[in-house]
Amino acid sequence: MTPKIQIPKAEIHCHLEGSIPPVLARELAERNGLSLPAKLFDAKGHYAWKDFLSFLDSYDRVCTVLKTPRDFGDVIYSYLASAARDGAVYVEMFCSPERPAALGISYTAWLAALTDGIDRAGREFGIVGRIIIICIRHLGPDRAFAMAKAMVAEPHPYVVGFGMGGDEARFSPIDFAPAYRLVHEKGYGCTVHAGEVVGPESVWAAIRDLPVTRIGHGVRSAEDPALMEELARRGIVLEVCPGSNVALGLYADREAHPLHRLIDAGVPVTLNSDDPPFFHTTLGTEYDMAGLSEKELRRIARRTIEASFLDADTKRRLLEKVTP
Ligand code: ADE
Ligand code: ZN
Repeated sequence: MTPKIQIPKAEIHCHLEGSIPPVLARELAERNGLSLPAKLFDAKGHYAWKDFLSFLDSYDRVCTVLKTPRDFGDVIYSYLASAARDGAVYVEMFCSPERPAALGISYTAWLAALTDGIDRAGREFGIVGRIIIICIRHLGPDRAFAMAKAMVAEPHPYVVGFGMGGDEARFSPIDFAPAYRLVHEKGYGCTVHAGEVVGPESVWAAIRDLPVTRIGHGVRSAEDPALMEELARRGIVLEVCPGSNVALGLYADREAHPLHRLIDAGVPVTLNSDDPPFFHTTLGTEYDMAGLSEKELRRIARRTIEASFLDADTKRRLLEKVTP
């Protein structure tokens, strides 16, 4: 559906595998000669899950349709194409090397396929895409550190940052400090999911123990005025995904979501789609449903580019596109 709010947009919080729409999951399964995993869809043909942990399971089941480097390239191409149709000029995509590694696909071959998808989308739609390497919290600090080592050993012009998703209730940010320190020292931008299913203490720990300039979600910070003040003071940007938060039951509806309270407290926020088909949203929907003026939405698009982990020249070029 064409978004109502037709301004240039940007996105810095979207997961590669979480962007696969059911129709593409079916196509990939067919192409790879696989039957779709049991219980993948509900009666309406949507991905089936009921709470945060079953969402993570459902996400893993969708990943099983990915088999070859080309599949990963097609997924990022397909998402960038649809984001461009929503008006996005830039998308920073969370990509986990765990799945390709389990399939025996080398880091180099996987990145080459993603690059091909990004370049194809760039040629056809003028959109710029970049990659954030993301580790999975519940797999533990050793896997995260190994991933960080692999990332810095093989720099790639499209890999701009490091992040962590997964089950926020497991481990503590400080357990991942060695991985974050390693990539940070090499000049990569850092972000971490926090303050989504766990409260403000999770965000406090993240900004105390990790070299992050952004927090994935971070919406539970609204429960702690001192934390909102600290985020505003330090200019730490929240990658807010209201549709995801409502779908996962953090808030009853968009009216109950703290987006406006965070803005009023001076916290720098961005708008993002997280895992769009899982949460029945898109970047365009997030802008349309935010309940913000066009002026504020333009400010958010601009902030998104500023908070991105892009090189200075590309940032400048894209800022010109989002500034009227
Ligand atoms: N991985 C994909 N989506 C996620 C989310 N919303 N929270 C944590 N990890 C994720
Ligand atoms: Zn996320």
